[in-house]
Amino acid sequence: MISFLKQLLFFNSRKKIKSRFNRILPSGDYIFDRWEKARFAGFGEGTSVYDSCLILGDVKVGKNCWIGPYTILDGSGHGLEIGDNCNISSGVHIYTHDTTKTVLYGKSIQQAPVKIGNNVYIGPNSIISMGVTIANFVVIGTQSFVNRDIPDWHKAYGTPAKIFPITQEEQNQQ
Ligand SMILES: CC(C)(COP(=O)(O)OP(=O)(O)OC[C@H]1O[C@@H](n2cnc3c(N)ncnc32)[C@H](O)[C@@H]1OP(=O)(O)O)[C@@H](O)C(=O)NCCC(=O)NCCS
Repeated sequence: MISFLKQLLFFNSRKKIKSRFNRILPSGDYIFDRWEKARFAGFGEGTSVYDSCLILGDVKVGKNCWIGPYTILDGSGHGLEIGDNCNISSGVHIYTHDTTKTVLYGKSIQQAPVKIGNNVYIGPNSIISMGVTIANFVVIGTQSFVNRDIPDWHKAYGTPAKIFPITQEEQNQQ
């Protein structure tokens, strides 16, 4: 009986979201509200996190961020900090640890914190590796591997990501 009622609620909420937004979500997102998940994790006001996001260790996220589905926010290696107004697109993995030397040489897991500033867009399926600092007003292109720091008002893309300034001319055109 309970499982029947649960299914009924699930189907109802799926129908509502399909007709309102023309969207079909991963099942967990019908059960757990994205803003509630963000509040539960201690993230800032207006931030939402899809249910399929994996949050590990010490992760701090500021206000008005959108954290998409199938993302990994790993703060297990001395912390991950993300500022305000950031967009972490679907499939992005941000790591503060690396097990490659553990697998090859039996060494302990390497760890280094990651810091991401305000107004940072990270494109789908990008990987940010441990120890990286990304400043403010930065765009990371789709499917990039970021293993270096990125300064304010820069864009980076590719594997490994190459870094270019967002020129004054580009900014003026907006
Ligand atoms: C492939 C890997 C093991 C190489 O490590 P490494 O031998 O220490 O290599 P370095 O970091 O010194 O990089 C050497 C060069 O290869 C490039 N490079 C490193 N990893 C790369 C990758 N995955 N793809 C493309 N280029 C890569 C570096 O940018 C550097 O280029 P440069 O010489 O032009 O500056 C490592 O970079 C990696 O990808 N580790 C996995 C990290 C990870 O995602 N962990 C998740 C949690 S377990």
